Amino acid sequence: VDDGDVFLTSDVGGPIEDQNSLKAGERGPTLLEDFIFRQKITHFDHERVPERAVHARGAGAHGTFTSYGDFSNITAASFLGAKNKQTPVFVRFSTVAGSRGSADTARDVHGFAVRLYTDEGNFDIVGNNIPVFFIQDAIQFPDLIHSVKPRSDNEIPQAATAHDTAWDFFSQETSTLHTLFWAMAGYGIPRSFRHMDGHGVHTFRLVNENDDTKLVKWHWKTKQGKASLVWDEAQHVAGKNADFHRQDLFDAIESGNFPEWELNIQMINEDQALAFGFDVLDPTKIIPEELAPLQPLGLLRLDANPANYFAETEQIMFQPGHIVRGVDFTDDPLLQGRIFSYLDTQLNRHGGPNFEQLPINRPVVPIHNNNRDGAAQNLIHKNTAPYIPNSVNKGFPKQANRTQGKGFFTAPGRQASGALERRRSSTFQDHWSQPRLFFNSITPIEQQFLIDAIRFETSGLSREVQQNVMVQLNRISHDIAVRVGKTLGLEAPAPDETYYHDNTTQGLSIFGQELPTIATLR
Ligand code: HEM
Repeated sequence: VDDGDVFLTSDVGGPIEDQNSLKAGERGPTLLEDFIFRQKITHFDHERVPERAVHARGAGAHGTFTSYGDFSNITAASFLGAKNKQTPVFVRFSTVAGSRGSADTARDVHGFAVRLYTDEGNFDIVGNNIPVFFIQDAIQFPDLIHSVKPRSDNEIPQAATAHDTAWDFFSQETSTLHTLFWAMAGYGIPRSFRHMDGHGVHTFRLVNENDDTKLVKWHWKTKQGKASLVWDEAQHVAGKNADFHRQDLFDAIESGNFPEWELNIQMINEDQALAFGFDVLDPTKIIPEELAPLQPLGLLRLDANPANYFAETEQIMFQPGHIVRGVDFTDDPLLQGRIFSYLDTQLNRHGGPNFEQLPINRPVVPIHNNNRDGAAQNLIHKNTAPYIPNSVNKGFPKQANRTQGKGFFTAPGRQASGALERRRSSTFQDHWSQPRLFFNSITPIEQQFLIDAIRFETSGLSREVQQNVMVQLNRISHDIAVRVGKTLGLEAPAPDETYYHDNTTQGLSIFGQELPTIATLR
């Protein structure tokens, strides 16, 4: 909407004046007849939609993805089909637990959601800045979120995990420990959105036109370098400028310092899913880079701020289920549940199924199907035969398949069989080796940072929860348990060496690298 050199109008187009209500006499009561007043106030009264159930606090920007080459040897996805092919994108960064008005520098996992508006439909990689997740099955997501959200009686604390219920859950549900370690290190308080990587977390599948499939992990590697705040900084900043991260992103783009990320994949064969001593379907595990090196595919550059926060950043509806041909899911039980959850919650937020028609959600390709009506339907469908099969409309829109119309296809060869079972896979049981791998792989200063964060977060907990936390820390490292216990006034349990090892891996340290530029850092 361009409001340059025009008259103010009502919502139905008639020119109006609106700054005085219609009254009976100069000093009299306002009249019900005043449609101008009622329309304006009613619209205002309905301005808000429910905030996201999680990731409510965020900021976004527009940009472009440029493919480095023709990767049709690994995927039929068209956005990776030619060198220098450009695809428009929108990215939304976020924190998870805080409400929409919470401070940017709260310690938290950070969302890194990317929408690629490809010429074969929208493809979303709805990821985080930490490559692993707290739980292994989507059915636990409400439990995780209820534990980290504020207390249900007094709604305290806002956007913080330093409270009993969060650590009660973390210490009882040990699959959380690995992600927790990343969040307690610098990854929980990044210097800015520009200084974090993004990860698709789950293992996905790529499939090419010859039916070859590969298992892949998506990684967006920041060109600005990874950097974090320290806790004191994060707290000062929260008090001085709660919008610190969204302002940093906005200002960098306004000043022409366009942030960039390189899209990389780790790629393995289907038969390597269990080859590394853990299950690649388990979203609490990284695949160390030594086992599957990063392979660069293209460059993401953010170069335009939204013109309207609500219309774009707030109304963009990312879904793990927005995928395109050439990409497919895996049986990761967390991913499987996410495919359901996002559409469901977005129906609630928008009160109907037509939010995909909003400008920020509309793909760049036309939509032709037999979905009809619903609240706020924007399209005027002229086809009077909205069903398949039909002859009245000569069979249109006709169905695409893999060869005709470049239709979406499920990776050939995917199989599922077995008895129905409600239990965690036996390959998902080790929750302690990789937190230890993470700890071993960061610098001593970052190890201290992590321990200090755990000390801070656990210092106000009940004794019982503190003791449960100590048991789990001790299973990762006796040294960590001793150092945390010292602050809490608790004796560490005797060493529990089942999962102790001295392995390390590359790429996990934030402090062990130099920033390529400090442009726009204040
Ligand atoms: C690997 C694990 C996960 C990652 C990386 C992840 C990431 C994200 C991100 C980045 C967003 C914000 C999207 C935006 O900016 O609009 C988001 C929102 C959300 N996530 Fe997740 N999430 C994960 C697991 C789950 C699970 C298991 C569930 C539920 C079963 C879930 C439910 C939601 C919901 C309900 C929203 C709000 C969506 C909206 O209102 O538009 N997430 N998630």
